[in-house]
Amino acid sequence: MIRAIKVKDLLLPSVDIWFKRWFVLTAGTMEKFNSMTVAWGSIGGIWEMPFVQVVVRPTRHTFGFMNDADTFTLCSFPAKFRKDLALLGSHSGRDGDKIALTRLTVMKSKAVAAPCFREADLVMECRKIYWQDLDDRNFLSAKIAANYPQLDFHRVFFGEILRLRGSDEFRKK
Ligand SMILES: Cc1cc2nc3c(=O)[nH]c(=O)nc-3n(C[C@H](O)[C@H](O)[C@H](O)COP(=O)(O)O)c2cc1C
Repeated sequence: MIRAIKVKDLLLPSVDIWFKRWFVLTAGTMEKFNSMTVAWGSIGGIWEMPFVQVVVRPTRHTFGFMNDADTFTLCSFPAKFRKDLALLGSHSGRDGDKIALTRLTVMKSKAVAAPCFREADLVMECRKIYWQDLDDRNFLSAKIAANYPQLDFHRVFFGEILRLRGSDEFRKK
């Protein structure tokens, strides 16, 4: 059961939730959307707004949806759905209906056009507020360039968090 959570009450394992649990990023509308798994990103505050930051390579089918849409959602899931997230992170929506290959059910969001998923235990509904392409001239660690043998630098998207719903695990007691 997930319920509305106020941003001030949100409790997250702020690094592990990305690296260990992952999110499903969804952009578009109920009629036409695409979803993919993401593990790189962050959550915090900027310009007096609570926000999330995700990075999407231009080769992803989701990339076009992120550019065209005004909103996106980020959904996290209980561990039993990990296989489904692995599938959404290894198949492309370009090649067919990958959601149909999972146990996930698409549903309307409350505040944004981008859909979310019934099985999620945390849903962040976001309005896109900024984007920028990573610039390798600014890579200050030698480790970073190894992620880009094809020079397909991620595009960074910021989304203002408009609405949060989650299980009690994510709510300050
Ligand atoms: C655990 C995991 C994390 C991922 N994180 C990202 C990410 O943060 N950014 C990204 O561009 N791709 C990431 N990917 C790769 C995309 O999810 C993958 O290429 C996906 O098939 C793209 O789907 P699409 O073509 O339908 O957009 C990740 C994949 C996995 C399995």
